[in-house]
Amino acid sequence: MTKPQTYFVKTFGCQMNVYDSERMSELLAADGLRAVDNSDDADLVVLNTCHIRERAAEKVYSDIGRLKASKRPSGVKPMVAVAGCVAQAEGEEIVRRAPMVDLVVGPQAYHRLPAMIAAAANGKSVDTDMPIESKFDLLPKRARPTGASAFLTVQEGCDKFCTFCVVPYTRGGEVSRPAADVVGEARALVDGGACELTLLGQNVNAYADDGLGIGFAQLIREIAAIPGLARLRYTTSHPRDMTDELIAVHAEVPELMPYLHLPVQSGSSRILKRMNRAHTAESYLATIDRLRAARPDIALSGDFIVGFPGETEADFEDTLSIVRAVGYAQAYSFKYSSRPGTPAAGMDGHLDEAVKSERLARLQALILEQQLAFNRATVGRRVEVLIERHGRKPGQLIGKSPYLQSVHVMAPGLAIGDLVEVELVSAGPNSLEGKLIQKAAA
Ligand code: SAH
Ligand code: SF4
Ligand code: F3S
Repeated sequence: MTKPQTYFVKTFGCQMNVYDSERMSELLAADGLRAVDNSDDADLVVLNTCHIRERAAEKVYSDIGRLKASKRPSGVKPMVAVAGCVAQAEGEEIVRRAPMVDLVVGPQAYHRLPAMIAAAANGKSVDTDMPIESKFDLLPKRARPTGASAFLTVQEGCDKFCTFCVVPYTRGGEVSRPAADVVGEARALVDGGACELTLLGQNVNAYADDGLGIGFAQLIREIAAIPGLARLRYTTSHPRDMTDELIAVHAEVPELMPYLHLPVQSGSSRILKRMNRAHTAESYLATIDRLRAARPDIALSGDFIVGFPGETEADFEDTLSIVRAVGYAQAYSFKYSSRPGTPAAGMDGHLDEAVKSERLARLQALILEQQLAFNRATVGRRVEVLIERHGRKPGQLIGKSPYLQSVHVMAPGLAIGDLVEVELVSAGPNSLEGKLIQKAAA
């Protein structure tokens, strides 16, 4: 197989994978490959995969099947690389199950991609090491961000071992990047045109640069102080690591946006214990109270799992109750998916799909109602919107409010990256219409 000239990266899963895909693209570009817009035109197709639920993990195989079936004018098959969490979890097994795959690279080893591509010319190449060296030290310097809003991974991995979750196995233990590196990368992104940064980690609020004694709250203060940075966000957080200092930062730092994704998973403390979540429904609600005391307008988002093994109707009703008690601006909910190798997979009391589906539908109806209520409550307010992309209608632009709502604005004169003042005029459950008031001073 000759060295590929062009590449296409397809991303599944969470924002950490979105970040990794950007870094892999930068690496491939630095290695002389050219990006193309779809997999049919690419000599190298990288599938950056997610293992979190069975359905997510299976998607990679249907994609490989599609690549195999696709008819290319040249007749030459692309080189196929499987990266990300399925690569880490399944390793060699992927090549056995899908012989079309040429290389498999885990999330901690992708800085070795150029060498693996060269090796793949002579046969399969699999690397799921969690090497001592950090990929961050070996990747090329950040390229210009593709938009006004950029992601920045500051922490990876997880030591929490929730009994349902594969992440501690696919991403390894919690590791924080040195604060100086993170602040340097943040500065490079802002210099390259980003005005919003989202700090990423599986448990980003567990961030700790032990060498310098810098915790997550201090990291936020340092990044927020970078000239030219207008907005700062972070995700995902664990309720256990919401310290008083971090909560106080929500009151102190104006660049930190009033939005927090804080998954609770269940409203039943009995189920939370079986999930090994290290918090109860009550302690979660107490954390929400402390956050709202610090930042009264904070919008909250969460993740929920329905149908965890042993979940009774009463447990599920506790989940509905906690949703009512919090009042989410947005939330994600999933049917429990049994994952090989996790403790929950071996527990008693697995529920029928029909029960899970019925509970999910009830929960999602409540969440939708809350999203609509939250969006409606903001109608009439003036907010700053960061324009991120063009809408479907001519002259329509779509951006994000401070509360991470999608706002559509008819304003043909605006450009992507503009931060503008908008009056919110109408609301649906997933987006709002806004009227342009003025272009904010840059
Ligand atoms: N680190 C983050 C989330 C990681 S995974 C956290 O702790 O909040 C994202 C979400 O996927 C989780 O919050 C959970 O709601 C869901 N999830 C994880 N494992 C799952 C499983 N086995 N079945 C269904 N949903 C799952
Ligand atoms: Fe998974 Fe729990 Fe870790 Fe989140 S905290 S990544 S849900 S083990
Ligand atoms: Fe999926 Fe891995 Fe993210 S399993 S959710 S891509 S950390």
